[in-house]
Amino acid sequence: MCGIVGYVGPQPALDIIVEGLSRLEYRGYDSAGVAVLADGNLRTEKRAGKLQNLRDALAESPPPADGIGIGHTRWATHGAPTDVNAHPHVDNANRVAVIHNGIIENFARLRVELEERGSKFHSQTDTEIAAHLLSDELQSAGDGDLAAAMRRTCRQLEGAFTLVAVSTEDPDLVVAARRNSPLVVGRGQGENFIASDVAAFIAHTRDAIELGQDQVVELRRDSVRVTDYDGTQVEGNEYYVDWDASAAEKGGYKYFMLKEIMEQPRAVADTLLGRLGEDGTLSLDEMRLSPADLRDIHKIVIIAAGTSYHAGLIAKYAIEHWCRIPCDVDVASEFRYRDPILDPQTLVIAISQSGESMDTLMAMRHAREQRSKVLAICNVNGSTIPRESDAVVYTHAGPEVGVAATKTFLTQLVACYLVGLYLAQVRGLKYGDEIRTIIEQLAAMPDSVERLLDTMQPTRDLARSLADSETVLFLGRHVGYPVALEGALKLKELAYMHAEAFAAGELKHGPIALIEPGLPVVVVVPSEEGRGVLHDKIVSNIQEIRARGARTIVIAQADDESVRPYADDLIELPDVPTLLQPLVATVPLQIFACELALAKGNDVDQPRNLAKSVTVE
Ligand code: F6R
Repeated sequence: MCGIVGYVGPQPALDIIVEGLSRLEYRGYDSAGVAVLADGNLRTEKRAGKLQNLRDALAESPPPADGIGIGHTRWATHGAPTDVNAHPHVDNANRVAVIHNGIIENFARLRVELEERGSKFHSQTDTEIAAHLLSDELQSAGDGDLAAAMRRTCRQLEGAFTLVAVSTEDPDLVVAARRNSPLVVGRGQGENFIASDVAAFIAHTRDAIELGQDQVVELRRDSVRVTDYDGTQVEGNEYYVDWDASAAEKGGYKYFMLKEIMEQPRAVADTLLGRLGEDGTLSLDEMRLSPADLRDIHKIVIIAAGTSYHAGLIAKYAIEHWCRIPCDVDVASEFRYRDPILDPQTLVIAISQSGESMDTLMAMRHAREQRSKVLAICNVNGSTIPRESDAVVYTHAGPEVGVAATKTFLTQLVACYLVGLYLAQVRGLKYGDEIRTIIEQLAAMPDSVERLLDTMQPTRDLARSLADSETVLFLGRHVGYPVALEGALKLKELAYMHAEAFAAGELKHGPIALIEPGLPVVVVVPSEEGRGVLHDKIVSNIQEIRARGARTIVIAQADDESVRPYADDLIELPDVPTLLQPLVATVPLQIFACELALAKGNDVDQPRNLAKSVTVE
């Protein structure tokens, strides 16, 4: 969601900020703005729409290029995406400029109070109150201490927010505060950066400091000072970003998404790297849970959103099969409202690419309050969810810039399999050689995915031929069902088409009424091991829909002759064990959705209305 950049240093601040914002475009936004402070003057410029609109406005009437500054890409929550609602927001004296990510929940009451005290509001945003409040605090103290004013301001705000501000009162200082919404400092030589994620400053420095909950940071050219809301100095969490700027470039592809789909073999390989020791034992990244804790677990609950939720649904099959521990999977946004039964013997697995999804964060905090242990599966080092968890498995997919999750989904699956095997190892449920066999099967996956990617032209042609369809249905059984859900989600978010997935067995309980001549239906057929009852049943389902005129698009193992007679279109998969099949079966669905969206002229990297990291509930 909203992207934040701040800079203090000798380089032209405006260039650094606009460049940083362009690197954050992938987060999703609908307006953009900057504020630059130079020669004691504050100049803001903001525009609805794409960053190019802001660039055009800046070119028409350029502010000073040097000084210090802040910039923002906004994803509208309160107030439409207009110029006036775009950030930064300033106070009435044009003394303070503020940008914000998150939601200030008590903004309506604060706005009334501020209006009574004489503030004039220009926007419909919750953010503008922060600018007026900060200015009031600064003025009433009369000491020019922006950081202290920020601390007092934050204490009055409710909700989840990150605020970044500059003020004419202290023209060498950028101040930022963090509650829940992500914020990271980039430390340079004689310059410092602040951003909602490292992508914004990775071209300049890879030394980062992750800020904790309710912390305020003061950035000057040569110093970074972190305090809590009481002003007590605290240590930020310093780390080194282990990917470079080129990892977040398109590398010759027209879209990040295409590049990221093609990177999947490497991403899967990297996630597996170094997990299996010489002695055949499996190790995970940050396992702060003891074997005794893990042996005590009597229930697992997986919480996640969107694509990560689909990874969780697949994990359930593997974990229950390998570990014989009951495993629930919950949509994170629903979890805490259903009053879930949790205790210290429940292991909660929070899956989140970004590590910042507010729904997942709140769900895991709820679980921790009930004294359950939380294990995070995450792609972003140092993000909030892993920091607050008892154990972490990182997915090592590298930065994912395309808003739609692709390579991170495959790596989440690998991480889930690893967690399942690790639990089986610790609980003595699998012999070392059984674990080694499955790890070897996983290790063969990058090669299988690579070969599959080379055969995708017919899938692309098929997708283009369906660009005028209104609906596509997806069916699957067993792990193929979450794969079908993921295929439908990709199509909805990229091609803006109606798409729905069903467990194939549910078809006859209602959805079969949707089948009409020519309707494209994608069916994910279980692989070799799954032949027998599961396989035969889905072949019957294909026959049922074909008999009613559907256009059957069957995704099945290449040597599966039994489905050929009923497939109008056949997408062939390599031969892999059923439980691991999602690692290959998902790939054609990503390509199908991406190509269909491109055929419709959509921007697959930044689909409308979507944000990469959803930091509001
Ligand atoms: C879909 C997609 C979203 C995310 C969801 C959770 O392509 O990207 O559905 O999967 O917003 O995000 P994370 O995994 O960052 O918690």
